Amino acid sequence: MNSNQIRKAFLDFFSSRQHQIIFSAPMVIKNDPSLMFTNAGMNQFKDIFLGNSPVKYNRIANSQKCLRVSGKHNDLEQVGHDTYHHTMFEMLGNWSFGDYFKKEAIQWAYEFLVDVLKIPEDRLYATVLEGNKNIEADNEAYKYWAEIIAQERIIYGSMKDNFWEMGDTGPCGPCSEIHIDIRDDKERKKIDGKSLINKAHPQVIEIWNLVFIQYNRKANGTLENLQQKHIDTGLGFERLCMVVQNKRANYDTDLFQPLIREIEIISSQKYGNNKNVKIAMRVIADHIRAVAFAIADGQLPSNNKAGYVIRRILRRAIRYGYTFLNIDEPFINKLVPVLVNTMADAYPELKSQQQLIQNVIREEELAFLRTLHTGINLLDGIINKTKDKKNTVVSGKIAFELYDTYGFPLDLTELILKENNLILNKDEFAQEMLAQKTRSYDAASIETEDWIELKRSPTPALPKGEGVIKESEFVGYENLEYNVKIVKYRKVKPRYGRSSLQGKQKGKDVFQIVLAQTPFYAESGGQVGDEGYLISKTSKIKIYDTQKESNLIIHYADELPADLSQTFVAKVDVEKRILTENNHSATHLLHSALRQVLGSHVEQKGSFVNPEYLRFDFSHFRKVTDEELASIEMIVNKKIRENISQTDYSDIPFEEARKMGAIALFGEKYEEKVRVIIFDKDFSIELCGGTHVKATGQIGLFKIISESAIAAGIRRIEAITASKAEQYINDQLHIINDIKQLLKAPKDLSKSIENLLNENIALNKQIARFGKEKLKNLTNELINKIQVVSGINLIAENITVDSADTVKDLAFQLKNKVNNLFLVLGAEINLPAEALAQAGRKANLTIMISENLVKDKKLNANTIIREIAKEINGGGGGQDFYATAGGKNPEGLPRAIERVKKILKISRQSAVGSRQIRWS
Ligand code: SER
Repeated sequence: MNSNQIRKAFLDFFSSRQHQIIFSAPMVIKNDPSLMFTNAGMNQFKDIFLGNSPVKYNRIANSQKCLRVSGKHNDLEQVGHDTYHHTMFEMLGNWSFGDYFKKEAIQWAYEFLVDVLKIPEDRLYATVLEGNKNIEADNEAYKYWAEIIAQERIIYGSMKDNFWEMGDTGPCGPCSEIHIDIRDDKERKKIDGKSLINKAHPQVIEIWNLVFIQYNRKANGTLENLQQKHIDTGLGFERLCMVVQNKRANYDTDLFQPLIREIEIISSQKYGNNKNVKIAMRVIADHIRAVAFAIADGQLPSNNKAGYVIRRILRRAIRYGYTFLNIDEPFINKLVPVLVNTMADAYPELKSQQQLIQNVIREEELAFLRTLHTGINLLDGIINKTKDKKNTVVSGKIAFELYDTYGFPLDLTELILKENNLILNKDEFAQEMLAQKTRSYDAASIETEDWIELKRSPTPALPKGEGVIKESEFVGYENLEYNVKIVKYRKVKPRYGRSSLQGKQKGKDVFQIVLAQTPFYAESGGQVGDEGYLISKTSKIKIYDTQKESNLIIHYADELPADLSQTFVAKVDVEKRILTENNHSATHLLHSALRQVLGSHVEQKGSFVNPEYLRFDFSHFRKVTDEELASIEMIVNKKIRENISQTDYSDIPFEEARKMGAIALFGEKYEEKVRVIIFDKDFSIELCGGTHVKATGQIGLFKIISESAIAAGIRRIEAITASKAEQYINDQLHIINDIKQLLKAPKDLSKSIENLLNENIALNKQIARFGKEKLKNLTNELINKIQVVSGINLIAENITVDSADTVKDLAFQLKNKVNNLFLVLGAEINLPAEALAQAGRKANLTIMISENLVKDKKLNANTIIREIAKEINGGGGGQDFYATAGGKNPEGLPRAIERVKKILKISRQSAVGSRQIRWS
């Protein structure tokens, strides 16, 4: 069976057992401060498990794209070095929400593996929780297994292996894992497979985890019984393919082999001959999947958060290619078509985003290869410096910078240092690494205490297929003030580096407050969260941000009101909301205008709106010209003047919205019922949960302030609206007025500036001519000062010049004109008063020696200049024939020149006096 058939067999099997088959949720998670990537199939169902979300289908099956590269589940370091861990992988799962439990989960898992996939039963083992003093042994799961398989194949396991938790808090429960022994019969006879379970043996591995979700782990560490019991199973798809296809490594399956074949062709190396080559090919075949799927989900590599994680994965792949496959040019992008062929049937987003994925990866590769070269040069510099100082130990901080910024692996740095007889301070490196881990953990997670419930109508066991959420109903499309009650709150412990939670009093506790209903918009869809106040008779609490966590709307405050039980007026900061709405609606108009002017290939790749401005990222393969920008702006402003009323459709089926012409974005997770915002049904129809102007006239004015590239094939437009746009235009007009006045109010301003510029060019040319003339004169003057000493034409003079470049020109002119030249020039640079006041006086020393003298008389400009630079309190260097030094003490110039003469063993009497020649 090939991988597509295996995936289909799983979905068909559970479909025939009344499971609804759903698409994978996006792998990149947006708007959840606690999780950047889906790391388990159950992430998207967390709120259903906890009873906070209604149940639409009580049985579901799917194949979920997961990424385990950070936080509690991080497999990155194992990838490629073993045969069965991955960054991105697919998790097949079947789910029961308050429906079937252990018996069916166990029975069906067995049936699927043994009856459908024909995996020999005697290769399978099941583990169940042995229990401890707090949690009892899972004898129930044991009993169901014992009804199907021989008892010697059932093993009791520890909390570590048989109790599954999503994270530090959240839904959890005992689990029963299915392990498989794929060793050959000879080995199996020698050592019993049972003894190798959970012993990291590459051929005795877990393939399926059946989790019996029945608890919620609270922040204080205790377990709370859930109202209902659920099933969450995760079957590692790549491992399953390995087993079914009778292979020894996931990489030998049809999921990875086409990629590896392509890497073999590109690198002209064979997979399997050499250990490092093999690991490198595996790493690359793994990482291209993670990166391509992330980009398809709309997550481009970047410098922060999720984008940074993706960038680092890609860089890791590039570096393995560079180090072990000797590939010094972009090649990973060339694997994209192969990946599309392998996986686009199941994940069509790869095909539709193929061009973008390829372009983005290629640009990243080019940039990183440049960085790698810079890193190697940097390391060379560090080695030289360390040797110069006669040190043998290189700082761990430097190695960490190489690792962090240039993607240099520690072992590569160590290897290069070793070749140079140097060693690395590894303790320092470890300290830096730890600090960085803490920083990235901070960026990705929030540490919260448990919710404190105030007044909550008990959530009844929800009837099948429906449910009502009592908390966090958003009433802010229509209301900006609302009478509310606090339902629950919790304290958030601030951590260093978590900007979104810093609040007004940096470092102090932050409170998250949930209201039954709220007019506050929680940040999502690019629109920032509302600010405002919670007001009662006795208190006024500032809400400085509103965020979403799953389906809860969370209000951030630095303090809590004294009496939490009273009724409050939740009052949104109207001014900020209106400004934000102007920008949000303008974004929709911009999107349509872009498609009109540039073409329908334009796809939204991200947006951000706040009260200040709007930002819109979109796919387009070249710079948007000024003319195009002007047309786009004109269309948007025309639509504003038309004062088009907004129409919204809430809760309409997704398919209906698509039929109306709304465009769904890749990487966005849409509910079955969606909201559509229309500004003229022939112009702008968007799926959007944000808040908008009632009619476009309110936007007033739209002004683009920048257009730029943010990645290959992705452009960004920044724009402003309403009074901000007005202000901007007025500011520009003021600048023009000022210029007019400076130029004495000419009739034609552009012409007058053009004349000035031309005049300037002519003057500069004249200055250059004068400069050349003066240089010639000074050259001749210096030639007249030559003194012949032991066959050397010596020039040793002090001069004053306007720039160090003049001395350089002078030195090279003299080199061309004078044989057997030894030139030493001391120069004070004639600085303008301002620069002089700021930086102080500047001295320059230059030595130029004819090359035959360098050779025959062993004279070395570089060595001499280092010696004499001390006289001007400076330093310098250069080549054997030409070297320069800069310093801050022009008083030392005559001494420096005397020293040269001493070095040349020329007595004072015989030397030419160091006369000052002025150059200016
Ligand atoms: N949640 C479990 C896991 O991720 C089973 O799906 O392993």
